[in-house]
Amino acid sequence: MKKQWFIAAIVAFAVLGSLAFVQARDGDNGNQEEEVAEPDYGPSGQPIAFPHNTHAGDYQIDCQYCHFAAERSSSAGVPPVATCMGCHGSVDGPEGGQEIPRLRGYWEDGEPIPWNRIYKVPDHVQFPHMRHVNADIQCQECHGPVEEIGVIQEVAQPLTMGWCLDCHIQESATRDCTACHY
Ligand code: HEC
Ligand code: HEC
Ligand code: HEC
Ligand code: HEC
Ligand code: HEC
Repeated sequence: MKKQWFIAAIVAFAVLGSLAFVQARDGDNGNQEEEVAEPDYGPSGQPIAFPHNTHAGDYQIDCQYCHFAAERSSSAGVPPVATCMGCHGSVDGPEGGQEIPRLRGYWEDGEPIPWNRIYKVPDHVQFPHMRHVNADIQCQECHGPVEEIGVIQEVAQPLTMGWCLDCHIQESATRDCTACHY
């Protein structure tokens, strides 16, 4: 009980503190698509088994605390290791766990984490996150109940043109080919 309280205090502190170092990152969306090194994907399919349910569910960390590019650029982006270390400099995780030591290893080596990309539309399609986020569409409408998911999987929808258009028709958004293809 005492430990839970302690962790919650650290989380609250880190969330507040981080507001000070939210930086302009336009043009640097944190994607690691260009990563060429052989990633060490464990059984989770990711280099670190990152639990969304713990962070966004149990500790209620806002999606945009980590995916802070979503409201102002096309890519939502995945946070740099420094964002993780804001907490995991001091939050250890369970005794004997492998994941936090692995995370700190990337930090010490100055290496980005080579996350495996999950959601992706083909190159001929443009998807602007900021337009959708600023229209008040919840992340969960497209990505499912992420705050209940352990290691993230593609849920809810396949990203087909029909899926995009169904909502665009319903919401009276554009159906112009060149809005999505250019
Ligand atoms: C503490 C940081 C953190 C928080 C909070 C967080 N995420 Fe993430 N998210 C990550 C990281 C790291 C990844 C990359 C690893 C992975 O895919 O599991 C990721 C991946 C994702 C992906 C998949 C990206 C891809 O490769 O296609 C989606 C979708 C996503 N997050 C949505 C959300 C939503 C919605 C919320 C809020 C309910 C949220 N995230 C909260 C850190 C976070
Ligand atoms: C705002 C604080 C905060 C941030 C930022 C944060 N975490 Fe966490 N994380 C926690 C807390 C609290 C726990 C739960 C620790 C516990 O239960 O002992 C946790 C647990 C974890 C676990 C589970 C550990 C295990 O072995 O089960 C992993 C993995 C993890 N975090 C990775 C990350 C990664 C990667 C990032 C950056 C994308 C990140 N965290 C960012 C607070 C944070
Ligand atoms: C209208 C549907 C929709 C909404 C709302 C939405 N996303 Fe996405 N998301 C997508 C699609 C489509 C992709 C694939 C985009 C691509 O390949 O360019 C994606 C990709 C991602 C990715 C991985 C690629 C990237 O952009 O970095 C992350 C992370 C992500 N979304 C997080 C979020 C978060 C967090 C929110 C809420 C703040 C959110 N998304 C809201 C549809 C949506
Ligand atoms: C859940 C509903 C929903 C889904 C699903 C959705 N969109 Fe949208 N989209 C909207 C709304 C609403 C707007 C209008 C936002 C505004 O008014 O700025 C919009 C706006 C856009 C725009 C900007 C159009 C312009 O006027 O310039 C593009 C591009 C776009 N969406 C592409 C996509 C693509 C590609 C997909 C599928 C991968 C998709 N959307 C899926 C609701 C959705
Ligand atoms: C709201 C966004 C959106 C609009 C508007 C849109 N598309 Fe698409 N389109 C997509 C997405 C997402 C895909 C990729 C997924 C798929 O193939 O279903 C796609 C795929 C395609 C493909 C490739 C299909 C294939 O099998 O590879 C063609 C061709 C295409 N669109 C033509 C059009 C034409 C012509 C229009 C105008 C009448 C149009 N699109 C309007 C989002 C859109």
